[in-house]
Amino acid sequence: MLRVEELSVSYGSVQALDGVNLEVAERGVLHGIIGPNGAGKSTLMDAITGRRRPTRGRVWVDGQDITQRSVTWRRRTGMSRSFQRTSIFPGISVREQLELVASQLGEPDLDEIIDAFELRAALDQPADGIAYGDQRRVDIALAMIGKPSLMLLDEPAAGLSTTETVALFEHLVRLVRHRGVTALVVEHDVDAVFRFCDRVTALDLGRLIAHGTPEQVRKDARVISAYLGTAA
Ligand SMILES: Nc1ncnc2c1ncn2[C@@H]1O[C@H](COP(=O)(O)OP(=O)(O)O)[C@@H](O)[C@H]1O
Ligand SMILES: [Mg+2]
Repeated sequence: MLRVEELSVSYGSVQALDGVNLEVAERGVLHGIIGPNGAGKSTLMDAITGRRRPTRGRVWVDGQDITQRSVTWRRRTGMSRSFQRTSIFPGISVREQLELVASQLGEPDLDEIIDAFELRAALDQPADGIAYGDQRRVDIALAMIGKPSLMLLDEPAAGLSTTETVALFEHLVRLVRHRGVTALVVEHDVDAVFRFCDRVTALDLGRLIAHGTPEQVRKDARVISAYLGTAA
């Protein structure tokens, strides 16, 4: 359903992504992207969502070349991403925020999303005044609205404790499976990635260094050496 072909992005003289090939064939799976800081993970997500134009290569979704399509077009045709706070309008409640996006995108079952991310208790609070952990879950709930076929999350658990991270991934996995959404997740917490993701891609210095099941990627010599000395 998603195919990234020889994708390269440079920022001036910095080659942030260098000929990356990636394929996610199934629906309802969680696909993790890992790699040390500066590996090119966010750049890859930005190139897939259309925020960043690749200097080379192509992005295919469901057999269609979308490389030149706009961010808006991609969103309308079923690609969503998390925004990390920037999507929260000041002064409205969590409920209003969710309902606003749900009415724009035609979400048939907002209650399911609210319950899956345990947001019921936060519904009447101001969206910009809730606790950080709740905020992160609102952000992912927003990306889940409108039954996207492909969802991109860049460090959804950033700043959360290990316990909160595990809970977040549990919620995410359940909803991804139930709704048949394919989620591409960049995550710093590699233990969470190896535990919850169906497939894992590892990047280092803009290149794909390993790809496969969590078991395969975890013991890959290049992955181990990329993390040696850089593990936080
Ligand atoms: N806007 C930018 N301008 C210049 N260089 C950038 C920009 N964004 C990222 N880079 C560089 O591109 C490389 C990959 O960055 P990034 O995709 O953010 O990595 P990651 O998300 O894996 O930490 C890094 O060397 C980074 O410094
Ligand atoms: Mg990043």
